[in-house]
Amino acid sequence: MTAAALNRAAAGPALIPVDIGHAVYAALTDPATAFWALVDKSRIAEELAGGPLLESYREKAGSFANELHALRFALTPSGVYLNPTERCNLDCTYCYLPGEQRSGGSHMAEEKLIASLAKLRDYFRSVMPAGRKPRAIFHGAEPLMNKATVFAAIDAFADDFIFGLQTNGTLLDDAAVDFLTARNVSIGLSLDGPIAAITDATRQTWGGKSVHHKVLAAMDKLKGYGSWSVITTCTSANLPYLTQMVELFHAKEVPTCMLNTVRCTLPGARGVKPADGDMAKALFAALDRTHTLYRETGRKLLVANFANILIGILAPTARRLMCDISPCGGGRAFFALAADGGLYPCSEFIGLPRFNGGNLLAEGGVEAALTSAAFRTVTVRDVDTFSPCGDCAIRHFCGSPCPAEAHEMNGGMEKIGAFCEFYKEQVNYALRLIADGKADDYLWEDWDEGTETTFRMA
Ligand SMILES: C[S@@+](CC[C@H](N)C(=O)[O-])C[C@H]1O[C@@H](n2cnc3c(N)ncnc32)[C@H](O)[C@@H]1O
Repeated sequence: MTAAALNRAAAGPALIPVDIGHAVYAALTDPATAFWALVDKSRIAEELAGGPLLESYREKAGSFANELHALRFALTPSGVYLNPTERCNLDCTYCYLPGEQRSGGSHMAEEKLIASLAKLRDYFRSVMPAGRKPRAIFHGAEPLMNKATVFAAIDAFADDFIFGLQTNGTLLDDAAVDFLTARNVSIGLSLDGPIAAITDATRQTWGGKSVHHKVLAAMDKLKGYGSWSVITTCTSANLPYLTQMVELFHAKEVPTCMLNTVRCTLPGARGVKPADGDMAKALFAALDRTHTLYRETGRKLLVANFANILIGILAPTARRLMCDISPCGGGRAFFALAADGGLYPCSEFIGLPRFNGGNLLAEGGVEAALTSAAFRTVTVRDVDTFSPCGDCAIRHFCGSPCPAEAHEMNGGMEKIGAFCEFYKEQVNYALRLIADGKADDYLWEDWDEGTETTFRMA
């Protein structure tokens, strides 16, 4: 803890005001427990001086602190990102996987993938409650370049994992769609622009060919399937087109998309990093557009990365993605398996050998990796302990992503990532939606199923 944080802890739970840019409301928050309340601006002084809100909060502060602590420090892994090949048929400008691996790397052999999944199944059985299945997402580099092996593994372990597959869509033919949809595998595509010229600025084959039309064709094949999504990686090349992007997704009946900030772990990505203010403006315009489309048609296009921020505020433990919490989910809620059998806290680290926590099939396997020095560098990264995050009001709604980026771009784990100002604006935007009673429109229909209201004040 920073000295300031220690002093605050000694003084007992306190609330601080945050201007969220709303005409009527400001937030009062205790950043240490991620508690927040929206208060009419005219009543802020009264509440801070010991009004009913502070009093009620103090009664509950201990249980909020315990809940947040469990989420931050007591999870065990329930998912794995699998790289069945190092190779990719695309050379995206910003890819976090090293170019030499993507162009000339190896596929994982079928026997090795089967042996790996058997070992992973046994590991997850030892830490997960009976009856709950772990998630296994085929994620890199381009999984369908090793299609036969991936499909054999999905069939062999159908009863043991909930499978997903993230693909650039170029190899997703009818037979592949039939195979995956028949087995209820969730499918993620990637597309960076509403028209070819924009997509081509960042996502092309090694020979410079456009693949935009192939992804559109894959989207058409998936129309009507319940479990698919599309990722757009937001860069300086496509930022002005994000609103058109969501219009395209909505027209194609995409159920869920992600509008992710480009992770600046490797130098290629830093060349297309948008400015924080531009990122905020473009994302909020696109989110506003999804809302208008929802109101006009009754059909939601969920923007999952933003929905996760909203959920992190409304019901911290109901989060679905673990990038916005500190320590992040890497190496504790999930981990990644590289095509050579190496274990990493997250796919984002696969290009960085110092974060290799050992080999899955070697003695010790997952357990050894989770306690390795390589993983611990990531799993002990705690926003409470370094500046400026330790004094930031939104640190437990943001998590200071991403450790790989902070380490490679900004020089250490105790540094911020690439989009600090954008994350602050994003939380303010989310709080404004809550203040206006619109938050549910941006969330999964069943987001509050299984959640419990622990604090409510009129
Ligand atoms: C690494 S790819 C692997 C799967 C598949 N080849 C694909 O394109 O979807 C997974 C996703 O990560 C995204 N991605 C790659 N590098 C990234 C970066 N530096 N920042 C953010 N997203 C990135 C890609 O655009 C893609 O949506």
